[in-house]
Amino acid sequence: MHALLRRAAPALALIALITGVATAPAQAHETLKLDAPKPAIAPTPPMGWNSWNKFGCNVSEQLIRQQADAMAASGMKDAGYRYIVIDDCWQKSRDADGNIQADPERFPSGIKALADYVHAKGLKFGLYSDAGSLTCGGRPGSAGHEFQDARQYARWGVDYLKYDWCHTGPRNAEAAYTIMAKALRESGRDIVLSICEWGTDHPERWGPVVGHLWRTTGDIFDAWEGKKDWSHGMTDILDMQVERAPHAGPNGWNDPDMLEVGNGGMSTTEYESHFSLWAMLAAPLIAGNDLSKMDADTRRILTNADVIAVDQDPLGRQGQRLWKQGELEIWARPLKDGDHAVVLFNRGRAPADMRVDWNLLQWPADRKADVKDLWSKRVAKGVSKGYGGTVAPHGVIMLRLTPAP
Ligand code: GLA
Repeated sequence: MHALLRRAAPALALIALITGVATAPAQAHETLKLDAPKPAIAPTPPMGWNSWNKFGCNVSEQLIRQQADAMAASGMKDAGYRYIVIDDCWQKSRDADGNIQADPERFPSGIKALADYVHAKGLKFGLYSDAGSLTCGGRPGSAGHEFQDARQYARWGVDYLKYDWCHTGPRNAEAAYTIMAKALRESGRDIVLSICEWGTDHPERWGPVVGHLWRTTGDIFDAWEGKKDWSHGMTDILDMQVERAPHAGPNGWNDPDMLEVGNGGMSTTEYESHFSLWAMLAAPLIAGNDLSKMDADTRRILTNADVIAVDQDPLGRQGQRLWKQGELEIWARPLKDGDHAVVLFNRGRAPADMRVDWNLLQWPADRKADVKDLWSKRVAKGVSKGYGGTVAPHGVIMLRLTPAP
């Protein structure tokens, strides 16, 4: 037997015993208890940046430092973005003791130094791993090394772990994610657990106990609509969120995948729609563009404080599609203190006159509301019955309604 395997064998056997991976995956996880409570570190959806959408496997310590610098200097940090997350391909191998090793050519200073750099900017630091033997990019996964990896992450100063689902064979998803959740909770550091099993095994049922956010679909790609291998365009992803809304709330969020705003595959209007709708979904706002090269529109969209306030609303209720007729939709989201956010969404190719009637929101007939358009910033006071306007093709009007005295 290879030395590494021999050393890992007792741990693997123990995990197989706990999870029953080899024999009885359905019951096995019942024996693994999450003794420590889930740390309450995601009361609102996490905000940050992740390397994958723009850079794929082309990650390095220079890139991560550059993005951290840009997050701090560009207004993104001021807008609330905090996590700098390195996605797949930072890892290269394991040493003779099974310790995970960063790619020494791309990360010559090591992960600890990089985490320190990010922390010194007042930001938080995240990494990616996988519940299987290999990551989706073919790097070493964490299967059989969960506790060892979690301790290493804690020593390095990791604040956020995105944990993927490639090369997992017959593993039971809830059991596999529970092991990593337990390992993180016993690591001595508060670490957000971002579950990335693509919604295949109903993560909305067990995710709220195990992690802080859970992917609901395959990957997003930077297009208005469509399907490509495992990936979906933005509106296709949106349509897959409708059923899952009731499961989200403070400290446990549905994750419709990262933002594509600024990556070039959609128009400015479409990116405004993408950002508005993700805010309605109470989605984690994880930017996926090059923060060091943002044009004015990208920055304006990603830092729109009014839209971010909807996403980050402390009530934590995910928005719902309340009305749909052909290519026109109205989405609404109750906010803390009685406000509502509303999106009038036009999927069509022609401008459309749209309007939300207060009765759609179940408001009393005599209710008046102050209305703020969160993109144009126009305000209308004491509006009765409803409000609307002309919605651009592929565009939104996003409103915040405050009941008027
Ligand atoms: C999967 C995930 C993506 C990304 C890649 C990395 O496809 O869903 O978000 O992390 O793996 O290889």
